[in-house]
Amino acid sequence: MRIELLVNDTAHTLEVEPRTTLVDCLRDNLGLKGAHVGCEHGVCGACTVLLDGVPVRSCLMFAVQADGNRITTIEGITPGQGELSPVQDAFCETHGMQCGYCTPAMILTAHALLDANPDPTREEIVEAISGNICRCTGYAQIVEAIALAAERMSGTNRAKDAP
Ligand code: FES
Ligand code: FES
Repeated sequence: MRIELLVNDTAHTLEVEPRTTLVDCLRDNLGLKGAHVGCEHGVCGACTVLLDGVPVRSCLMFAVQADGNRITTIEGITPGQGELSPVQDAFCETHGMQCGYCTPAMILTAHALLDANPDPTREEIVEAISGNICRCTGYAQIVEAIALAAERMSGTNRAKDAP
């Protein structure tokens, strides 16, 4: 079947089997390996991407179901080549990643949270990432990273005399 996807602001026309999952399409057809495959049945969240800005499990969707939609993967979250998003930067700073397997999904989930709620409480951050499993169990540092990113993005983390 022929489908059209807008992935990380680039339009793609693709031929896929009706049974091709969105995560396989992203990884195999487009070479976007940042969407990780873990459980393949909707439990771990490692395959999370944003569909029109909303986190979805790309192992549970067929690529044809995403036809005509906007997809954001971790490869599309940076402001420019060689740069990090504020959330990525905060993950590095607070040691919010260990093996990194869950990290792209956690970061995309955090971006979606902060887009919808720029000033989340700790409880709201925990709730937002509750569908994503970190096998390294680094949850405390992940929550720390998202809280730091929220502070920075809202400007409340600036030094008093900063412009
Ligand atoms: S690989 Fe999709 S939820 Fe685990
Ligand atoms: S950092 Fe290893 S799975 Fe989360």
